[in-house]
Amino acid sequence: MSFTTYAIAGIGNLGSFIAEELLILKESGRVKDVVLLSRSVCTVQGIEFVISTLPLPALELQTSLAQAAKAAGVRLFAPSEFATIYSEPKGCPLLAKYQARGVLKDLGLPYLLMYTGLFSDFVFVPALGLDIGSGKISYGADGSFLMSFTSRRDIAHFLARILTTLPPAKLEWSTFRIEGERISFNEIVRQYEQKTGKKLEVLLLSPEELEAALKVNPYDFASLLHLSWIKGEGVAGKPEELSNSVWPEWNPKKVIEVIAP
Ligand SMILES: NC(=O)c1ccc[n+]([C@@H]2O[C@H](COP(=O)([O-])OP(=O)(O)OC[C@H]3O[C@@H](n4cnc5c(N)ncnc54)[C@H](OP(=O)(O)O)[C@@H]3O)[C@@H](O)[C@H]2O)c1
Repeated sequence: MSFTTYAIAGIGNLGSFIAEELLILKESGRVKDVVLLSRSVCTVQGIEFVISTLPLPALELQTSLAQAAKAAGVRLFAPSEFATIYSEPKGCPLLAKYQARGVLKDLGLPYLLMYTGLFSDFVFVPALGLDIGSGKISYGADGSFLMSFTSRRDIAHFLARILTTLPPAKLEWSTFRIEGERISFNEIVRQYEQKTGKKLEVLLLSPEELEAALKVNPYDFASLLHLSWIKGEGVAGKPEELSNSVWPEWNPKKVIEVIAP
């Protein structure tokens, strides 16, 4: 019997999609309760599964949330991962993601980790130098390295599906790695130009340039990400580690369908 009562902490860019997908399943009876937690309202009594979609600046809060969850008898906790694999991020905001896993292990509160690659409907923005709509895009090295992309709707759809169909034993201490598509920035540009007829101006950022930017400002998140992607850390996992086949009918969107529908 899978879980039926859920709480989601952090109803924002991603959490709102997960809430919607679980609420859709409520209509079918597969989900009983979905509690939305916010800074002002936070109670996990009677909940079986807590999903955290807190943002990087709030990840420290996951410790007290996990402690409260354990005390309230919550059975499973999904910390706010939902990104890519990355090497141990010393002194950067991603460190808190590592720490959350340690807290859950120490508490003996089973976790579910979900890696999704980049949100295809969210990352093509100026702050990351990926504002495709402006006609300009910048990315690292020669742009041929592969990255995982998944849209937030597809992530939420997959997560809601496994939570409501797999038995708890398959969810506890589990890691799910999913991707809508594994593709390079160069190939995304090629497909975009072909589909839209618009030419993009591409600026390639060398690893040295990105390293230099980080020396000046260690909190330059865009440079940190571009550098990690060059190193192969922009994927959800190795191809053989992917969990897409857990739900063979899952039909996620390709990047081009998202950025040029
Ligand atoms: N793979 C990708 O491309 C990608 C892209 C973006 C994010 N992510 C990951 O997805 C996860 C969720 O990120 P998100 O962008 O969805 O989060 P978000 O929308 O920025 O924040 C979610 C909610 O958390 C609460 N919150 C925000 N700042 C807070 C603070 N300082 N203290 C306490 N609560 C705060 C807010 O809810 P209330 O106001 O109701 O409290 C907010 O609506 C993170 O792990 C992030 O790293 C991945």
